[in-house]
Amino acid sequence: MKTTLSVIKADIGSIGGHLRPSESLMEAVREYIEANKGKMVIDYRISNTGDDIAILFSHREGVGNSALHELAWDAFVAGTAQAKKEGLYGAGQDLLKDSFSGNIKGLGPAVAEMEFEERENEPFIFFAADKTDPGAYNLPLYLAFTDPMHCSGLILSPKMSDGFKFVIMDVEYTEADRYIELNAPEEIYDIAALLRDNERFVVSKIYSRDSGEQAVAASTTRLHNIAGKYIGKDDPVMLVRVQGSFPAAGEILSPYNIGHYVAGFMRGSHTGPLMPVKTGCGISFFDGPPIVTATAFCVQNGILTEPVDCFDHPYWDHVRTEVARKATELRRQGFSGAAMLPYSELEYGGIVEKMKKLDDKFKI
Ligand code: 13P
Ligand code: 13P
Ligand code: MG
Ligand code: MG
Repeated sequence: MKTTLSVIKADIGSIGGHLRPSESLMEAVREYIEANKGKMVIDYRISNTGDDIAILFSHREGVGNSALHELAWDAFVAGTAQAKKEGLYGAGQDLLKDSFSGNIKGLGPAVAEMEFEERENEPFIFFAADKTDPGAYNLPLYLAFTDPMHCSGLILSPKMSDGFKFVIMDVEYTEADRYIELNAPEEIYDIAALLRDNERFVVSKIYSRDSGEQAVAASTTRLHNIAGKYIGKDDPVMLVRVQGSFPAAGEILSPYNIGHYVAGFMRGSHTGPLMPVKTGCGISFFDGPPIVTATAFCVQNGILTEPVDCFDHPYWDHVRTEVARKATELRRQGFSGAAMLPYSELEYGGIVEKMKKLDDKFKI
């Protein structure tokens, strides 16, 4: 029997601005799921990354299941009521539609789901990032699945010698899913040409070409495409199965030591380095820096083990110091040039009005 992992994430309110949800808000979401999970949900875990709450479900209903999506939506609605009661900032921020309609995709929350036949042992890592957008995973995924400098398994493991298939989404196309399938290693230059543009092209899935099995499912929601204006950053989630015909856990984690610069940070309008942090970490400096958490599990018959917090290790303390240095360095130039996102990303915000007014004042 197949198992489905679904992670559904939303920002429904937080303390002190966009910093961290309250314990009681997390508890309200947990209570709702516990009371309403019925027979559908085999197991679940609730966690926060910055101001976002993610619910990781295991079940048998397949991807895009309406009842499961509705359960998550209703839990976030119940949480929003609690957030309002406490006067939390941005209560219900990511719930962009008034009511649930069949699939939570397109309603605001981010979704990553994968259905598979469980292997004899089934290790996977759940990623969540705050103060950034789905393109933040592009570089780490490219490096972990195509580059032997990070993934030694590409040299050492016969189970990986055929490489991987990337499914890349054009997130600017809003009428439907517009995607392309490209194979590594033959087409890595084409893959790189697309993934260079983190705001438009986003890895949504990766498959092993040896086993045909799916390794990666990532969320691709761009909130401004749904809302038509800036209401918060997309803050993507991702599931990555590891070991066997997939990279090892440590190979998947390896590229996060770069602290590469991503879009997001303050008001979703800046560039900042992605800092790997412990699960439950809040937000601080300049509403950032952009953060990513990674939590490893094994799943058997749908039952999840206890979590292992991948970035809770002395090695990553050193990385965090380096990333903080990178953040400080770029912040020194404030609004100038590369420190802020290009106008195409800002045009969903208040700057549009300002530019209109200024335009009228120009003389020729
Ligand atoms: P162990 O010998 O600890 O099982 O590790 C094997 C491995 O391949 C680690 O990447
Ligand atoms: P979130 O998308 O995490 O809510 O952050 C929004 C923001 O504007 C931070 O400055
Ligand atoms: Mg927020
Ligand atoms: Mg957030």
